[in-house]
Amino acid sequence: MNELLNNILFLPEQASTFAERVDSLHIFVVTVTMLSSFAVGTAALYFFFRYRRRTPEQLTEYVIPSVKTEFLFVSLPLIFFLTWFVIGFRDFVFVTTPPKDAMDVYVMGKQWMWKFAYPEGPNGVNVLHVPANRPVRLLITSRDVLHSFFVPAFRIKMDAVPGRYTQTWFEATKPGTYQILCTEYCGLSHSKMLGEVVVLSPEEWDAWLKEQRRGDLANRQDALADLSLAPQPARMAEQGQKVAAEVGCFKCHTVNGEPHIGPTFLGLYGRQSTLQDGGAIRADEAYITQSMMDPGAHLVTGYANAMPTFQGKLTGPQTAAIVEYIKTLRTPDIRTTGASQGPVYEPIQQ
Ligand code: CUA
Repeated sequence: MNELLNNILFLPEQASTFAERVDSLHIFVVTVTMLSSFAVGTAALYFFFRYRRRTPEQLTEYVIPSVKTEFLFVSLPLIFFLTWFVIGFRDFVFVTTPPKDAMDVYVMGKQWMWKFAYPEGPNGVNVLHVPANRPVRLLITSRDVLHSFFVPAFRIKMDAVPGRYTQTWFEATKPGTYQILCTEYCGLSHSKMLGEVVVLSPEEWDAWLKEQRRGDLANRQDALADLSLAPQPARMAEQGQKVAAEVGCFKCHTVNGEPHIGPTFLGLYGRQSTLQDGGAIRADEAYITQSMMDPGAHLVTGYANAMPTFQGKLTGPQTAAIVEYIKTLRTPDIRTTGASQGPVYEPIQQ
C-alpha cells in the first residue's frame, strides 16, 4: 500500500531511517484530505440536483444545524490536525536529535559545489561516502552565500549558512548512490550544484577508508621514508592547531586548563557554562563556531567582551579544523583524581 502510494505521489525511494517516518505522515495527510475533499465535492454535486429550484416561487428554508452536528464538524478535523501535529513533532525531535554515537562529517557549500571533510582525514568534493546502517551527523556551513543541503532519498534538508554551523543527521538503510541537491537559490549555477551520497556496506567502507589513508600518505613529501615511520595522515585536529596558532587564539586561550583573557580550550567542548545574561549554554560545534564569528553573542560569566570576530577571516574548513582541535582537548582524570595528565591530544612538533 505504502509503495503504491509512493509511486502515485512520485516520491523518491526511501533510503534512510527517517524517510519512512516522513512518508507515512505525508501519505496519512494526503489520504485524509483527498477523501474529505472527495466527500465534500460529491455531497455538493448531489445537493445541486436534489435541492435544485423547481418553481420561481420556491424559497430556501432557513436551516440551523444542531449542536451535535456543529460539534462533529469542528471536533473531527481538529482531532486529525492535532494527530498530525503530534506525529510531526515526534519526527521533528527525531531529526533534530542526532544519536550520541553518530559519525561526524563536515559539509561546506560554496558556489557551486559541496565539500566534505572527515575528522579522521579524508576529504571529498561533491561525493559523500558513508557507511550503511550507521548514524552520520552532518555539520553544515557555507563559504559564501546561503545554500541548502538536500538528499531527497533520505528526506533531509538543512540550510548552509556562512559563519555558522547547522546540523542534521541520517542513517542510510541500504548501499547505493543518492542525489544531493542545493535547494536555496544561490546564483547562476544553483541548479548545477549537485552531488551524491555513496552509501557503502561496512566492508566497502573499511576498504574505502584504508584507501583514502594510503592516498593521503602518498601525497606527502615524506612518503618515501620508511612507511612504518611515516607520519599519520594530516588530521583536521592537527590542521586546527596550526590555524589556531597562526591566527593568534593562544594569545588569549590556554590549552592547559588555566583561564586567561578567554576561557581555556581544555575541556571546553561539551562544557556547560553560565552566561552573563543568566542563561546557560553547552559548548557544542554551533556554539564554538558562533563564538568565533560573533563573540559577543553569548558571553560566559567572568570574561570580558574582548574577542575580535573572525567572520571573513577564517574559512569554513579552518573553522571546522579549530572546532575539531578543541574537541580533542579533553580532561580525562584531572578533575576526578587530581592527577595532572595534560591534554589527551599530543601537540605536534613543527
Ligand atoms: Cu547552492 Cu543553490
